[in-house]
Amino acid sequence: MNNIKGIILAGGHGSRLFPLTIGTSKQLLAVYDKPMIYYPIYTLMLAGIKEILIISTPDDLPRYNKLFGNGNMLGLKISYEKQIKPNGIAESFIIGKKFIGNSHVCLVLGDNIFYGDKLVDYLKVGLNNLKKNSSTIYGLDVINPKEFGVVKFDSKNNLERIVEKPKLFISNTIVSGLYMYTNDVIEIVKNLKPSSRNELEITDINNIYINKNKLRLIKLEKDISWIDTGTYDSMLKASNFFQELEKKTGEKYACIEHMAFQLSYIDEKQFLKLARLMSNSSYGKYLLDKLKK
Ligand code: TTP
Repeated sequence: MNNIKGIILAGGHGSRLFPLTIGTSKQLLAVYDKPMIYYPIYTLMLAGIKEILIISTPDDLPRYNKLFGNGNMLGLKISYEKQIKPNGIAESFIIGKKFIGNSHVCLVLGDNIFYGDKLVDYLKVGLNNLKKNSSTIYGLDVINPKEFGVVKFDSKNNLERIVEKPKLFISNTIVSGLYMYTNDVIEIVKNLKPSSRNELEITDINNIYINKNKLRLIKLEKDISWIDTGTYDSMLKASNFFQELEKKTGEKYACIEHMAFQLSYIDEKQFLKLARLMSNSSYGKYLLDKLKK
């Protein structure tokens, strides 16, 4: 069985967030009490993935490095690669070829947040598909599908193809920014040609897998919240959502430090060190409280 590694794509233009993202990377901006990138890291941790590659712009990579270093403090192995220009999501597998090696790979877009008690179960289905040599996309129904990659179903409701930002209505089911691919993705991407918008399209990769009958669609139902934090309003919505959740449950979501401790990736001493670093914030105090319990 191939191992599975994770990639977080955290570059891009972020032009819908200007002027917020003129001076910094979108995925370093706050979603409630933590940088946006914490959420996709948490998603990968939920999938049991410990080796993570962060891809971002040459300007921003040092900032991610400052946040996570080599990942040791979280019991993870984090490495970094530059994407010189936003040449498309699929370029991840060219940039990440060496990192992926012989493994399968789970890609999460750095601005995609997934939340729900059942998320682990959804991830397990994707991981199982990989074991059976099939790749997985995670889809969901939205009211404004034409801004996304949209799923076209055949008469038997099977995946027929994915259409990127269709002008005419195809279906309400779109492809989210969470993908699990078998190792051959590094071969597939080699033959991709840039699209009319001059990007290597993830949709092209998905359609190649569909043609080989090697792509499964996992539909995220109402028990999962998905937020693509690409606009002011969706960032605010996400911040409010996680603030409310904490008020209701007393628990922080995507607290990767605590997760690392719970999973025994780090011991109590390492966890305490992380908590003390942040002890002046309520985030750090939350971590310290976890140790008292
Ligand atoms: P997009 O939402 O397509 O683009 P963007 O974030 O650059 O934003 P905007 O439309 O506001 O200009 O990207 C989705 C995610 O993928 C986002 O996290 C950025 C990332 N991305 C890259 O890192 N490199 C790329 O080449 C592309 C296309 C996206």
